[in-house]
Amino acid sequence: MSHNTFGHLFRVTTFGESHGPAMGCVVDGCPPGIPLVEADIQRDLDRRRPGQSKFVSQRREPDTVKILSGVFQDERMKKQVTTGSPIALLIENVDARGKDYAEIRDKFRPGHADYTYWAKYDGIRDYRGGGRQSARETAARVAAGAIARKVLDTLYRRVAVRGALVQIGNRAIDRKRWDWKEIPRNPFFCPDAKMAAEWAVYLDAIRKRGSSIGAIVEVVAEGIPAGLGAPVYGKLDADIAAAMMSINAVKGVEIGAGMRAAELSGEENADEMRKGARGRPRFLSNQAGGILGGISSGQPIVVRFAVKPTSSILTPRRTIDVKGNNTTISTKGRHDPCVGIRAVPVGEAMLACVLADHALRHRAQMG
Ligand SMILES: Cc1cc2nc3c(=O)[nH]c(=O)nc-3n(C[C@H](O)[C@H](O)[C@H](O)COP(=O)(O)O)c2cc1C
Repeated sequence: MSHNTFGHLFRVTTFGESHGPAMGCVVDGCPPGIPLVEADIQRDLDRRRPGQSKFVSQRREPDTVKILSGVFQDERMKKQVTTGSPIALLIENVDARGKDYAEIRDKFRPGHADYTYWAKYDGIRDYRGGGRQSARETAARVAAGAIARKVLDTLYRRVAVRGALVQIGNRAIDRKRWDWKEIPRNPFFCPDAKMAAEWAVYLDAIRKRGSSIGAIVEVVAEGIPAGLGAPVYGKLDADIAAAMMSINAVKGVEIGAGMRAAELSGEENADEMRKGARGRPRFLSNQAGGILGGISSGQPIVVRFAVKPTSSILTPRRTIDVKGNNTTISTKGRHDPCVGIRAVPVGEAMLACVLADHALRHRAQMG
């Protein structure tokens, strides 16, 4: 597996497998002098961690992060800061249970990546938890994202990259009830308290049936100035779409009005401009999702992505085994009934990493 790195100046390489000893990443290109301690990273990891409610995987992973390099305690500044050298982060796997996968070792889960990994890597496939195809890998992305947030805060002050679950199955939130403060109060990262209560009943029934369901996540970055993005082959929207699409189970990505832009008239789609404060424009709407011509406009950057339903389900499904025989499969073990929930901090992290990379690239070209 040869492509485990993303980003140009803020470069993230992740490593590790679901049932190996540890996950981790190396973040290369982080500027020096940024205060960074493990607690800064742990905060984000704790939001992605499994086992926190009955609506997510029951695997018990504390996801405790260790910083192995790239920081030092500066006695003059009286704090631990980045040095500019590679920052290596380690997250141990402590609750892997390989036996859960013995039954499906030689079968392909429909909808999962078992068959394609097997076909691509000449039959070598780490079936224990899916190895590298497992979303355990996203813990490393979230850890890197916490560093990206610090880079953005250092460059621009007051940047907020926040995500929310806005739809499970066919049940979407009511945007009029959107309240960011609601998100930590329910197990879904849902900004609509009423819909969170409805989802609890809906998802419980799906979970008890041994089934699963898809979802939509929305991530918003505020405080990003105009100018990030590198036309024409490093457009900000193109890089964000690629980053989101690289998250496990993501099947669709849209920015701003996204697919709905097809239904809009030119008048509706035009984000009209007025004179704003401090010589900056004030936009009257944000159909563009904060990006025009691949460059940030200074408006909030709004990204949505759809995740498919978890393919590891209890309901028997028809499949084949590695010898090509017809068989059936029913996947036991500890799985997320709706992966959209824990994908929220992952989406935030990917957006933060892309923005940090583009911020450094913008600075490199424009000073
Ligand atoms: C946070 C998160 C948790 C996930 N948990 C599971 C899981 O418990 N069981 C499962 O079969 N897939 C899970 N997935 C999805 C698989 O990792 C993914 O479907 C698989 O790697 C195949 O890749 P693809 O769906 O991107 O094609 C999860 C995805 C995310 C983002």
